[in-house]
Parts: sequence; structure tokens; C-alpha cells
Amino acid sequence: MARDCFYITTPIYYVNAVPHIGNAYTTVLCDVLARYHRQRGEDVIFATGTDENALKVREVAAANNQDTQAFVDSMEPLFKEQWESLEIAYDDYIRTTERRHIELVQRVFTKLLEQDDIYLGSYEGWYCVSDETFFTPSEVTDETCPNPECRRKLTWVKEENYFFRLSRYQDRLLEHMTQNPGWLRPDYRANEVIAFTKAGLKDQSVSRINNGWGIPVPGDEKHVIYVWFDALLNYLTVAGYLADEDKFRRTWPPSVQMMGKDIFVRFHCTLWPAMLMALGVELPEMLVGHGFWTVDGDKISKSRGNVVYAKELVAELAGLSGASPRVASDAIRYFLLREVPFGLDGDFSKSALVGRFNSDLANDLGNLLNRTISMLHRYFGGEVPPVRTIDEALRDAAARAAAEVDDALAGIQFSRALEAIWGLVSAGNRYVEQSAPWTLHREGKETELADVLYNALETARIVTAMVNPFMPTSALEMWRQLGLDGDPGSTPWSDAVKFGALKPGTKAGSADPVFPRIDTRRTAKSEPVTPPVKSHKQEKPVIQFDEFKKLDIRIAKIIAAEKIEGADKLLKLSVDVGEDDPRTVVAGIAQFYGPDELTGRRIVLLANLAPAKIRGVESQGMLLAADVDGRAILLQPDPAQDTPAGATVR
Ligand code: MSP
Repeated sequence: MARDCFYITTPIYYVNAVPHIGNAYTTVLCDVLARYHRQRGEDVIFATGTDENALKVREVAAANNQDTQAFVDSMEPLFKEQWESLEIAYDDYIRTTERRHIELVQRVFTKLLEQDDIYLGSYEGWYCVSDETFFTPSEVTDETCPNPECRRKLTWVKEENYFFRLSRYQDRLLEHMTQNPGWLRPDYRANEVIAFTKAGLKDQSVSRINNGWGIPVPGDEKHVIYVWFDALLNYLTVAGYLADEDKFRRTWPPSVQMMGKDIFVRFHCTLWPAMLMALGVELPEMLVGHGFWTVDGDKISKSRGNVVYAKELVAELAGLSGASPRVASDAIRYFLLREVPFGLDGDFSKSALVGRFNSDLANDLGNLLNRTISMLHRYFGGEVPPVRTIDEALRDAAARAAAEVDDALAGIQFSRALEAIWGLVSAGNRYVEQSAPWTLHREGKETELADVLYNALETARIVTAMVNPFMPTSALEMWRQLGLDGDPGSTPWSDAVKFGALKPGTKAGSADPVFPRIDTRRTAKSEPVTPPVKSHKQEKPVIQFDEFKKLDIRIAKIIAAEKIEGADKLLKLSVDVGEDDPRTVVAGIAQFYGPDELTGRRIVLLANLAPAKIRGVESQGMLLAADVDGRAILLQPDPAQDTPAGATVR
């Protein structure tokens, strides 16, 4: 079928907790595919979002003494922050509490009820709130969730429920599965789905008693719609089903639907396609179930204290390496996709991340780019020389690598794609070593030298174009260093990977290492270490002296300090700033300084910052501290001098 649009979806995440590195994995996988398809010139809709109508979301809100809607609203920015830190460029972000979604879900429910695909019945069996899943007594052995990733205590449910006639679709589903190899990926997961379906699909309960949270069953508000029935429909909402016919025609069906193996068989490969069959809507083209991550060998869990969040990890890796946060984020994306063959489970550890950072990025990739550009500056004043002979072996290696990447990504094999790119990186590095441009230079063989540098630079350019979907910021930085216009993401894939496209006369940028090597002697222990002195690029805008003059910075003396109830990072300080009355300042330094060691200390205070209420306390200024890897270090005037409180700092 001719396709207008590459539509790719992540599952929508439960909003009860901030997404961790495991959830981030699903999202990064989709972002890479979305970027790759955009680079190929296709229209892409990449959708992600949050699953908000779940019982467990209501329970967490209640446990936090919060109104459920207020709670889910407060979670949205936290999700977006994590995705932003990983450079996730989604086109649509759907929340299931949005009107567009609620309307669609209710219309679908009514339609299926009217056509007798949904009927009223009664349910008696187990329910797992954590997985939001119904289990039959035969699936349960010991009152705990049969999902090995969950194993939480189950609730026995006996209530009037609406049921979806899933059993009706069993044969058609089996036929679709067996006649469409490649529909379910990786292949070995298809067998699991076929076995599950053959074992018999029972009608699925699709409502719960209305406890005040969820989408009400239209016309029977004693019930709310079962959260999975509601959540799966998000994919139709994004595509404009029943709302925007044109958009729906352009977008549907999804090209790739990505998810973890835990929600593959039961929900996405059986219930979901059966719902679509009942609606008479085309099935997704491909359903993909990835493996699970553990951290340091353990299941990711709050109680184990091993939860890794992308945003913090980015900051830590940036601190360790001195790379910019965006480059650090790229390195994490690279690690996640390279470390395990797609589909299998993987174990995350900081030492493995640092290992790959140094070997694959700083050494292999960094070397190819860095030494080639450095030699270009040294031997040709930074200008790409004309080429006489294209190296055929390199040209063929580049063509093979590009074809391999295309093939691997069409088959959703991320690590294979990266291996192909790194094969070309190695070929480039080997080529430089074997042709020894430094010797050619010494011997005055200018034409040969020009050829070698051209071929090496061209290899680096093609590698850069190919890594772009995986590491967009680093690729852009590399593109700039190569002196190329635009950005690799908007250079059509087919042109970008064509050997010989680099124009002689192109002026290269300076050869700064994009991935500064991490000193592993300092990182042998897994806790964060003070970074090596960073060369800070100018990240904030330059300001004029007049703007600086607006700041009222003063020396202040701490008169008293105390903890703020319920806030383990904050201290309330009373400070003398040379005025009649002391001021109150709230400072986030409680993890680094105890109240007792602060009294009497002189500090530096920004005195004209607009007052702000923090945990109910009005802060009338901000103390200044150095930020060393998240650790606050107080600034103080020269201890040998007696600087009075209120003295101006300029
Ligand atoms: N809300 C449902 C999905 C509804 S889609 C219609 C849900 N949400 S989730 O937040 O629990 O999980 C979302 C994704 O994160 C799933 O793809 C899940 O497999 C993935 N992961 C959760 N923990 C993970 C790991 N430890 N490792 C890899 N992926 C993990 O399920």
C-alpha cells in the first residue's frame, strides 16, 4: 500500500510515577525510528503520551492526599522534562483525560455495544491494580499477579461488568498472525502470541464500577470504561478517528507500534487488533515487543532504590565527561540501543555506560572525526582539498553500511544498524592508519595526502549522517566541525550517504572532541565524582554591564538556620543584610550543610530577587553557591577580612 505517513507510537505511560530508564527506552526506540524516517523524507507522526484514567493513578493520588485530576496535571511537566532531556521529538502528546480522547472512547464503546460486540455480564475473578489486568482463577496460583515482572497481591473482584466479545475474533486473529509473518516482531515473540491465542481467548471485561475516576460508560455511569480498553484507543484518537477524516486517511494504520514485552501478548497483539476488527478498521502494520532492562542486575524498583532517571543520568554523564548535556543524552541513547541485541533483556550499569562512552564514542567515532579534521587544519589550512582518486574500498564499505542500516531499521534491529555504522567507523580509522597521512606529508606527497584526507573526511561525513537518528546533537556538532551547511537531519538520507558528495573548498570548523574521554580511574566507584575541570562553553547569552548592574548582590550574615518540616533539601535562614530587620531566605542546601554549622557564617546573597513562597515560607533573596555536580558549595568573602553584613558585591 502506498503510504503517506510513517505513524509510530509508544505505549502511553501510567502517570503514577516519573518515567525511568526502562520507559525511556521505549520512547528512545521510537524517536530514533521517527528521526530516521524523517531523514528519509517521509511524513512522520510520532506520538507518545500518558495513560491517566487508571485505578492505580487514583490510588497514588489518594495516597498523596491529592485530587486525582490535580495530581495527573502535576505529572505532565515531569514527563515532558524527562523526554526533553533525551531529545525526544514527538509530534503529538496525548493525555487520556483530554476531551478529544474521552469523546472517541465513548463513541467507540457505544458503537460496539450497539453492534453487540459489547454486552453486559458479570465478572468474578482476580484483578491486579498494578498491571490493571483481569486474571482468571486458572491463571493464578498463589493470589499474586502471574506476571513475573509484577508478582503483587491480587484483588478478588465480583461485579457487574461490560464484556467485549474477544472470543469472537480468535480465529480471524490467528489467521492474521499466521498469514502475515513480520507483523509481530521480533519473530520469536510471534510464537508466544500464537500459542496464547490458540489456548483460547475469553471475552474481556471492559468496565469497572465507577469510583469517581475514569471514563464513564455512556448511558450507564455506574460503570467506568476499563483502562486498557480506553488506553489502547489513544492510537486512534491521535490519528483523528471519527474526528478528522482526512487526517485519519493520511495517518492510519500505524507503521510501527512499540512496547515492552510485558504488554505485548495480552493487550497489543490480541485485545487491540480484535477491537480494530470489531470497528472494521485496518490493523497496525507492525507490532514490536522489546526486552526489559534491569539495573545493576536487579529489577528496577523504588524499594530496591535502583531507579535510574534519564534527566539525572544525563547530568551525571555530562559532569563526568565534560560533554554538553545534549551530547551526554546522545551517549545514553546510543548505549541503550547498542548494548543489547534488540528484543532481548539488558542490564544497565553506569560502568558499562562509561565503558561504551570511552571506547565507541570517544575512541572510535571521536578519533575518526577529530584526527581527520585536525590534519585538515594542519596540512590544508582547514579547507577540503580537491580529490583525484576516490578510495573504492571505502566507498563500497559506506554503501554497504548504508544498505545494512536501511535493512536493519526496516527490521527493527537497532544494534545491528549501529554495528554496521561502527563497521564503517573502523574501516575509516584503519584507512587513515594504513595510509599514514603524516608520512605522506613528511615526504611531500601532496596529491596523495589530499586524497587520503578527502576519503577519510567523506567517511566521517557519511557516518555523521547515519548516526543522526541515534545521536542528533552530536551529529549536528560533527556536521558543523566538518564545515557542512544545514543539519544532517534535514539532508535527505539518500544524498547524505552518497560517497563523494563532500565539496572541495569546504571550510572545516575547529576540531574539538565531541565526546571527551572519561577518566575511569576517577569513576571506578559508582557514585558520582567531581568532574575534571570542565572547559565551559558560553551557554548563556552575553549581557551588558547595565544588566549586571541591576543585580543587588550583598554580603549577608546568617543569624539563625533551621530545617523546614517535610522538605529534606531546604533550610530556612534568617540573615542580616545590613538593613533594620533581618531577612528570611530559603536555601536548598540542607543535604550539604547542617543548621548548626551555618550560624554566624558570612555568605553572598542576591538581595533583589523577587520574593517567592517556597513550602509556605517567603524567601526574600537567594544565597549564591557553586554547583559541583549537584553539590552546593557556599561562597563566602575572604575569611582574613572582616566584611560587614550588607557590603555590596560588584
Ligand atoms: N499504560 C500502559 C500502556 C498503555 S498503552 C495503550 C503501561 N504503561 S507503563 O508506564 O507501565 O509502561 C510503559 C512502557 O514502559 C511499556 O512498554 C513497558 O514495557 C516499558 N517498561 C517498563 N519497565 C521497563 C523496563 N524495566 N525495561 C524496559 N521497558 C520497560 O504499561
